[in-house]
Amino acid sequence: MKLKTRITELLGIEYPIVQGGMMWVGRAELASAVSNAGGLGILTALTQPSPDALRAEIERCRAMTDKPFGVNLTILPSVNPPPYAEYRKAIIDSGIKIVETAGHNPREHVEDFKANGITVLHKCTAARHALSAQRMGVDVISIDGFECAGHPGEDDIPGLVLIPAAADKITLPMLASGGIGDGRGLVAALALGADGINMGTRFCATVEAPIHPNVKQFLVDNDERATNLIFRSLKNTGRVGKNSVSDQVVEILQQPDATFEDIAHLVKGAEGRTVLETGDLEAGLIWAGQVQGLIHDIPTCAELIQRIVEDATNIIKGRLQRFVG
Ligand SMILES: Cc1cc2nc3c(=O)[nH]c(=O)nc-3n(C[C@H](O)[C@H](O)[C@H](O)COP(=O)(O)O)c2cc1C
Repeated sequence: MKLKTRITELLGIEYPIVQGGMMWVGRAELASAVSNAGGLGILTALTQPSPDALRAEIERCRAMTDKPFGVNLTILPSVNPPPYAEYRKAIIDSGIKIVETAGHNPREHVEDFKANGITVLHKCTAARHALSAQRMGVDVISIDGFECAGHPGEDDIPGLVLIPAAADKITLPMLASGGIGDGRGLVAALALGADGINMGTRFCATVEAPIHPNVKQFLVDNDERATNLIFRSLKNTGRVGKNSVSDQVVEILQQPDATFEDIAHLVKGAEGRTVLETGDLEAGLIWAGQVQGLIHDIPTCAELIQRIVEDATNIIKGRLQRFVG
């Protein structure tokens, strides 16, 4: 089965399916499994404790796949920012050919990656940001709708509007992201003007995702309502799975004069990591999107990708064709 788009051509992959960068989850096990299955797997740079550890993780991934894979570099506001330039250098020195950037002010990073011949996928959450990334010289826009896990931005525009609105403005190949978990989502994305899809939450519920089985089952058990929007009042909205910790964060930040300090103890990255490693579902935040409502099993990445491609092909050739035939 073939699905050829500008994305498969540009990235040298079989299917237009990308696994977005995911803190603590985007390790060699998952990235290589996605790439081996014909998609594009992505390692998450900041999951590694140092640039040298990232170099080693890239080598580990290379030993697990001979297919293309990428590295995500996420630039978020932080009191103690990680040494971004050193991580960037580790990516470049390692000979990585595809990078996903996300977050604030990526210019310096994009320029350096481009100068080193790297294909840059920039993930953003607004059509105007997509336009400025296009002007900056990135190669692919990945556009994240309000449904997504992670940081959906502050505009609250769901994919059904955001994807075609962005497609109207940009000429670069585009990945639709947020709320996609099956073949229907892939066909919808293509119909809305995208050239492929980016998925996060769906890839967490796979055999190869290096996280505790309890978390995978949490995603299966949850429905589409089981998320919380945190950090709204701080203008740094995050969509996470609904649990006692995210409920508490929402409640505290609803107080008129609440500040980040009031919730800092609840949202530490280390605690999110504890959830993923120990399976204690109330130990911290669990990043997950509304697409939980479409996740009913824990397949291998190969099974998942084959199913998505097969379902998408059947929808295009069958159901949609019948409407016009
Ligand atoms: C557990 C988890 C961690 C994530 N961490 C990051 C990250 O560090 N950097 C980033 O750019 N996006 C991150 N994301 C967002 C994903 O890359 C992707 O854009 C998003 O999950 C798409 O929405 P979906 O979950 O509905 O598929 C994360 C998502 C999840 C589920």
